[in-house]
Amino acid sequence: MSDLSMQYLGLMLNGPIVVASTPLSDRIDNIRHMEDAGASAIVLTSLFEEQLALESRALDDDLSRGTNSYPEALNYLPEQGDYHMSHDSYLEHLRKAREAVKIPIMASLNGASAGGWVRYARDVEQAGAQAIELNTFALATDASQTAEDIERQLLTLVESVCKAVKVPVAVKLSQSFTSIPNLAMRLEAAGARGLVLFNRFYQPDFDIESLEVRPTMHFSTPSELLPRLHWAAILYGHLKGDIGITGGVHSVEDVLKAIMAGGSVAMMVSALHIHGIDHIARVLDGLRYFLEKREYASLAEMRGCLSRRSVPDTTPYDRGNYIKTLSSYSLRPTISAF
Ligand SMILES: Cc1cc2nc3c(=O)[nH]c(=O)nc-3n(C[C@H](O)[C@H](O)[C@H](O)COP(=O)(O)O)c2cc1C
Repeated sequence: MSDLSMQYLGLMLNGPIVVASTPLSDRIDNIRHMEDAGASAIVLTSLFEEQLALESRALDDDLSRGTNSYPEALNYLPEQGDYHMSHDSYLEHLRKAREAVKIPIMASLNGASAGGWVRYARDVEQAGAQAIELNTFALATDASQTAEDIERQLLTLVESVCKAVKVPVAVKLSQSFTSIPNLAMRLEAAGARGLVLFNRFYQPDFDIESLEVRPTMHFSTPSELLPRLHWAAILYGHLKGDIGITGGVHSVEDVLKAIMAGGSVAMMVSALHIHGIDHIARVLDGLRYFLEKREYASLAEMRGCLSRRSVPDTTPYDRGNYIKTLSSYSLRPTISAF
């Protein structure tokens, strides 16, 4: 039987499919189901920086009623009760998840400033998280803030968390950086043991009748995988740490592509919301079938085989791909009448 095990963040995983952060794992029965279906690790939903700020505001309000020293921006964010879990119930859930399954459970901290993350990182480590995923979603809307300011803030956050805990820390990165290879190397120097490519960017939509700007959420499609494959393939071999791929992983083929690009794990969320948790087992069966048919002894030996450093012609990863794609497009004859 083919060996599907992969190493990720220093952990030996029994397969390549990790469940990325999703409210599906807010339930312990789902977590057990994920393990039974063959998930090799689970990243819990995020604890949000803004949520923790609200909790400490509530605590402060109790201690000193009448003072309002918190940023106005917090008023526009979800109310405290709208988040999945409070800080304490998150830690309790983490402990229960650890007891319920043998596969690694990773905590997710979601924020943009160094703030109180050190304390929360220690809290989740003590509660049993075997790794921490730091989701660093930040949006540049202030014209006075430079790219260097944003990267420095990110690096400070990562460094402070990595120094505070012993468990490995992975950074779930946004795709919108000018030089991803340079940032990746600096994140590694700051202590990150892995990069998760990429955060999805949920843009709001416009309601043209009510003239409102509304949050939208839709599940991914496999087309979202392409930029992840591209950057994983470029980074593979240049980093000591691991690459996790999240965004557009739905099928056997997608998992294989993620590993061939250089990923150590392929993460799934949308596919599980659409097809159910048992989808993991079906994809793993397909992976075994593929490996046996091609006579691969293990999935790990396939890792990075289509990365930029492994292919004889690197043009597809450079500007050549762009030129070739556009210049080789030919117009088809138009159908003028039915
Ligand atoms: C309903 C839902 C909730 C999510 N919550 C979180 C979250 O709390 N933290 C986080 O880092 N990502 C969160 N994500 C993003 C996923 O972890 C994942 O990165 C993204 O959906 C792309 O993977 P996919 O194409 O397999 O869906 C969420 C996604 C969905 C669909």
